[in-house]
Amino acid sequence: ILIVLLAVLVSYLIGSLPAAAWLARTRGVDIRTVGSGNSGATNVLRSLGKGPALAVAVFDILKGAASVWLARALGLDPAWAALCGVAAVIGHNFSPFLGFRGGKGVATSFGTILAIDPLVGAGAFVVGAACMWLTRFVSAGSILGALTAVTLVAALNRPGWLSLTVAFLAALLTWQHRDNIRRLQAGQERRLGEPK
Ligand code: G3P
Repeated sequence: ILIVLLAVLVSYLIGSLPAAAWLARTRGVDIRTVGSGNSGATNVLRSLGKGPALAVAVFDILKGAASVWLARALGLDPAWAALCGVAAVIGHNFSPFLGFRGGKGVATSFGTILAIDPLVGAGAFVVGAACMWLTRFVSAGSILGALTAVTLVAALNRPGWLSLTVAFLAALLTWQHRDNIRRLQAGQERRLGEPK
């Protein structure tokens, strides 16, 4: 149990590394005051462009995946590995480096699910990315991708711990997008490529 606690703590710390905020700071930008104010790849895309956004997305995906891999390397059961992935997402969203604020957990949740169950991760990605592509709303695609993961886990009859993990991640992700949802309803959400 001590090793589980340690793995969860390390995963939380890995997740809390705020790539978007730190990368933006090296460019003289305070990510919390530009665009949507979110510390995530989408907002880096808006404020700094494609290269930095891709770097942040990859780093944030790896935070989730690496936490799962770490748990596995320590010989922990899959359910504990999933808990480590969840800890990384919580670290990303509530980072001690950002005063316990952070991003919305899209990339890190994706990395976590992809590492645990590649088929569910890939399915969620395809549907979420298609929605982003068609609507140009990253937020809507993110939420739809999360709902797709929940649906796939049920449809594929995955074990209870995985259903619980994916349901929790999807609920947290949707909650983190509450301002985006309000903006979508009000017709004020920014589309990709739209002027800020
Ligand atoms: O990565 C989070 C994305 O779904 C929305 O980001 O900056 O448009 O609030 P943003």
